[in-house]
Amino acid sequence: MERITQILTDKVSAAFQKCGYDAELGTVSVSDRPELCQFQCNGSFKASKLAKKAPLAVAEEVCSVLSEDSAVKIAEAVKPGFINITLDDSYLIELLAGLEADEHLGVPQIGKGEKIIIDYGGPNVAKPLHIGHLRSAIIGESLKRLARACGSEVYGDIHMGDWGLQIGLVIAELAVRNPDWRCFADDFDTESETVDALDVDLLNEVYPFASKKSKEDEAFAKAAHEATFELQNGRAGYIALWKEIMRASVADLKSNYEKLNVDFELWYGESDADKYIPELIERLTEKNLLRESDGAMVVDVAREDDKAPMPPVIVKKSDNSSIYATTDLATIIQRERDFAPDKIWYVVDKRQGLHFEQVFRCAKLAGLVPEKTELEFLGFGTMNGSDGKPYKTRDGGVMRLSDLLKTVTDGAAEKLSASEFVTDENRAETAKRVGMAAVKFGDLINHRAKDYIFDLDKFLSFEGKTGTYLLYTVTRINSILKKTADEKTVLSGIHNDAERELILSILLSGEAFCYAHAEKAPNYICDSAYRIAGAFSRFYHDSHILTEQDEATKSSWLALIKLTKAVLSKHLDVLGIEAVDAM
Ligand code: ARG
Repeated sequence: MERITQILTDKVSAAFQKCGYDAELGTVSVSDRPELCQFQCNGSFKASKLAKKAPLAVAEEVCSVLSEDSAVKIAEAVKPGFINITLDDSYLIELLAGLEADEHLGVPQIGKGEKIIIDYGGPNVAKPLHIGHLRSAIIGESLKRLARACGSEVYGDIHMGDWGLQIGLVIAELAVRNPDWRCFADDFDTESETVDALDVDLLNEVYPFASKKSKEDEAFAKAAHEATFELQNGRAGYIALWKEIMRASVADLKSNYEKLNVDFELWYGESDADKYIPELIERLTEKNLLRESDGAMVVDVAREDDKAPMPPVIVKKSDNSSIYATTDLATIIQRERDFAPDKIWYVVDKRQGLHFEQVFRCAKLAGLVPEKTELEFLGFGTMNGSDGKPYKTRDGGVMRLSDLLKTVTDGAAEKLSASEFVTDENRAETAKRVGMAAVKFGDLINHRAKDYIFDLDKFLSFEGKTGTYLLYTVTRINSILKKTADEKTVLSGIHNDAERELILSILLSGEAFCYAHAEKAPNYICDSAYRIAGAFSRFYHDSHILTEQDEATKSSWLALIKLTKAVLSKHLDVLGIEAVDAM
């Protein structure tokens, strides 16, 4: 189904043309003054200049053509030359029936034919997930679902940090604590020897300990760098230990992401890019892009018109080890080879913007992807505490993601404790879903690039722009539908103003999907969902569905709320929010 402003633009363009003006002038938008009309067109102003006529005269001519269309209830020329349009109720119902019959429920298929890889999540193996990873997971998952809803072929890649210094730090510290482990011996034999199972809690303790130690103890820092280098160069015992670290960490990561209802098609990491590094170096050499600088190999990416400093990309350090930029460049080779995507989006903390700009420039200079491939950095802001500073634990430490998720689920459970609608059997799952909805909506309602304040009480409120309110709205619809399960549902007409408002909010959701898709910004989906939920509440208040005596009216209302639920659920799904049956 085409979006509604497009359908109306076609009509109004034809009217402009019929009056002898350019069809292009007929662009229709949603009214900024809903109390006056539903839609508007401001093309008369431009037409008046071209035709040397008063804008109001042009608007009047166009309106008189539009008034002949049975879809239009009122087409009004308003001083100094606006065209205000209100649609006929029967036409709104016709559009709504079209949306009901559309397999995509009015979501425009504007991404069809595009292949996209979204790099999000970005956890670091052996380091516990902390709240810095929350936004990448929430926003990335939503952008993936959004692109998919709009028809694109999309792959989410977690891109684990599994190859860098953090692993070297853990290996070095484990070697200090367990010097007799066979994996540290020079003659470790991969064929006949294995590494004992590691516990993720141990890793979570070892990493911060080793990281702190490396800042105070130079010899240890050196050992960690050496371990990183030897690992990357294939030392057998280290590789075996690394595999065990990966096994333990990935299982833990999976369970945390599962709680968030976030899942990845591709579980690659920086280590998977390793085998493409020789090819990267070859291609950079071929294009004559590599330059030596203090023993390191770098690529200059600055341009003359740069307003801010643009340092060269370091591809190999003086000790010949690879770093963050190296693996990101090699990963581009891998993605191009495996998928040849039209777009690669990186959902990463906005403070990494410079790194990605360097990497993208280098990738384009080296021709790692075709010129037309869109490499885009979608940076996000920080989640802050009530003091406006990055959210911390009570004692000022970095909050672990698993602790945050527990706090949220406990908060939701408490909120629901008095509800008679939640059965004991469903209580834990419902609390989890309500908690996740609260956190996700509280995040996604903000434009991704902005910082926001984490306020659990607000997020869990049943009123206002919250995920809780949206879930509650769906449960109210469920309860009516359960009581009327056997009744007919056929859209027929519009019986009151609140009903018209609800219908319009549903019809306009296609616009929200368009904006969200164009700007890669799920906040438009949040706004649209809230508008629909609010319109439903007013409609529900004004229309006594269950006691309505007129059969056709009741049937039409039931059809409308069924559709409201379907469309709201589509919004929630794109936000990565799971609905609950009752609460
Ligand atoms: N592991 C990185 C970090 O924690 C994020 C990875 C983002 N993705 C990428 N392709 N570099 O900062």
